Amino acid sequence: MNVYELFSVAGRTAVITGGSGVLCGTMARALAAAGCKVAILGRTQAKVGQMVDRIKGEGGEAIGVTANVLDEEGIKAARDQVMAAFGRVDILVNGAGGNKAEAITTKDQTFFDLDLQALKDILDLNLLGTVIPTRIFGAEMAKQGSGAVVNISSAASFRPMTRVMPYAAAKAAINNFTQWMAVYMAQEFSPGIRVNAIAPGFFIADQNRDLVIKPNGEYTERGQLIVDHTPMGRFGEAEELVGALIWLASDASRFVTGTVVVVDGGFQAYPGV
Ligand SMILES: NC(=O)c1ccc[n+]([C@@H]2O[C@H](COP(=O)([O-])OP(=O)(O)OC[C@H]3O[C@@H](n4cnc5c(N)ncnc54)[C@H](O)[C@@H]3O)[C@@H](O)[C@H]2O)c1
Repeated sequence: MNVYELFSVAGRTAVITGGSGVLCGTMARALAAAGCKVAILGRTQAKVGQMVDRIKGEGGEAIGVTANVLDEEGIKAARDQVMAAFGRVDILVNGAGGNKAEAITTKDQTFFDLDLQALKDILDLNLLGTVIPTRIFGAEMAKQGSGAVVNISSAASFRPMTRVMPYAAAKAAINNFTQWMAVYMAQEFSPGIRVNAIAPGFFIADQNRDLVIKPNGEYTERGQLIVDHTPMGRFGEAEELVGALIWLASDASRFVTGTVVVVDGGFQAYPGV
């Protein structure tokens, strides 16, 4: 048995939504470093272009596609670009997601007066923003009879965090969708198409920086609470998601589908006592 071969993703093609962001940019760079041809799918052409240049600068093969994960026609056009460049889609990482201030409860902005549109936006971005690319790129996997989808969930999906109701609800729905889609692909198309998720614990990124870090670099009260409730006593580093990603994307996990892999420094295991 060649163990390195089991984990190999060399020569495969990958689409990474949110691939110019903090966590998924690192995932995209890792897949490229492992020999994948990667398509960075993001909303902002300039940010997508920067990530493509960075990957090429590191010796990888990458293209950029600009699209909004909530725009079905835009994602179809992105699929056409990816198919023209690579001819197939072996790996889809559904990383686009996040939160915004208008959808977070505070003393001044209670659940009862949260802006309904902001609430819907966050439900849509995180849930439909995963479902729509899975429909469009997953249809290619269905034709191929093979593929690996990796959704990006959150620690907030198991027990909702305070303040982030729509985000937590949407991430919980991603776990449910991951299971549904895993069963659907295996039963209706091919057991060679697998659908799993990674639930990161706490990593500092653009979407949560202001919630956890003060301008002077110290933790906010919430940041300190997170570290205190993480047995490893720190935030995660984006590279620490790469092992789970490569495992889920490669044949090393070929009998694994419908799972949510937790990468959280022990947060989920620790009741605080
Ligand atoms: N940072 C954390 O601690 C943490 C924890 C758990 C889960 N996550 C999840 O990880 C994923 C990556 O987040 P991150 O922390 O790297 O944040 P990030 O903001 O750096 O990355 C998110 C990316 O998604 C893109 N995006 C947002 N809306 C989009 C849209 N409509 N269409 C296309 N692209 C869009 C953004 O432009 C950005 O590049 C998200 O799904 C997030 O919810 C993050």
